[in-house]
Amino acid sequence: MPIFLPPLSRRAFLGRSLLAGAGLLVRGRGFAAESTAPVDPHTWALLSDTHIAADRAKVNRNVVMAAHLEAVVRDVLAQSRRPTGALINGDLALNTGEAADYATFTDLIAPLRTAQIPLHLALGNHDHRERFWAALRDDATAKRPVVDRQVAFVPAARANWFILDTLDKTNSTPGLLGEAQLAWLARELDAHADKPALVVTHHNPTLDPAKVSIIDEAALYAVLRPRRQVKAHFFGHSHVWSVVPDESGLHRINLPAVAYVFEATQPSGWVSAQLAPRGMTLQLRCVDPSHRLHGETKELTWRA
Ligand SMILES: [Fe+2]
Repeated sequence: MPIFLPPLSRRAFLGRSLLAGAGLLVRGRGFAAESTAPVDPHTWALLSDTHIAADRAKVNRNVVMAAHLEAVVRDVLAQSRRPTGALINGDLALNTGEAADYATFTDLIAPLRTAQIPLHLALGNHDHRERFWAALRDDATAKRPVVDRQVAFVPAARANWFILDTLDKTNSTPGLLGEAQLAWLARELDAHADKPALVVTHHNPTLDPAKVSIIDEAALYAVLRPRRQVKAHFFGHSHVWSVVPDESGLHRINLPAVAYVFEATQPSGWVSAQLAPRGMTLQLRCVDPSHRLHGETKELTWRA
């Protein structure tokens, strides 16, 4: 199993906050953002690159990362459709995946859990797998389909999510899947060919051998392209928002960072994804609602 955080009751949240010494202010903020919207079984909240430090006041590239994640959590809960699940696609922690980073991260996402939204968490190159597992040990399930990797098969009403783990070395940029994970992916895709498959990695595919991001990207695309049930590849890492087609017709969706950006024109934010029978609607939600791209919508149609 992956790291999956199930919905949390108000009582459980209060207990956890007290144990963690999170204090009254945190609890108040969390519950101020509860959602009353009905759950939409086809809507997902897609987040990436939160880069949370232990210190909530930590600033990087002129961004207070905790404030960005709080704003995104509030926005997710303010939507008229409550998502059936949320994915947070790696680089959860600032740089080196410290235990205290994950403690703060866990507190910041708690309002999603108390809103009864299941959370699926992936790892990026600024996460630390063992410390992440240790920090979330109360919620983790020990059984993992790929040894020492954080992978998940998540069935949804109109598609299946395949969440992969490209973390190779903490705080080292390139990503790696490895043969065991690729073999697992191929087996799982073949076993679930009846529904559209949506594949998620933290690292971005460059499709350019001179600009390697996922070291075994060619092997990944050799698995994805011929399996026509694979409709889209979601990733983060580059802190860029873009949707571009692959030559084989699958969509490549670069999720924006919740945290800071590397290019001033790029937005910080998250993506609301709504599944249709033969495609998906993506809406960009910017942390800054005055950003020129806030609300941008992409209509995707699945390849045959
Ligand atoms: Fe990142």
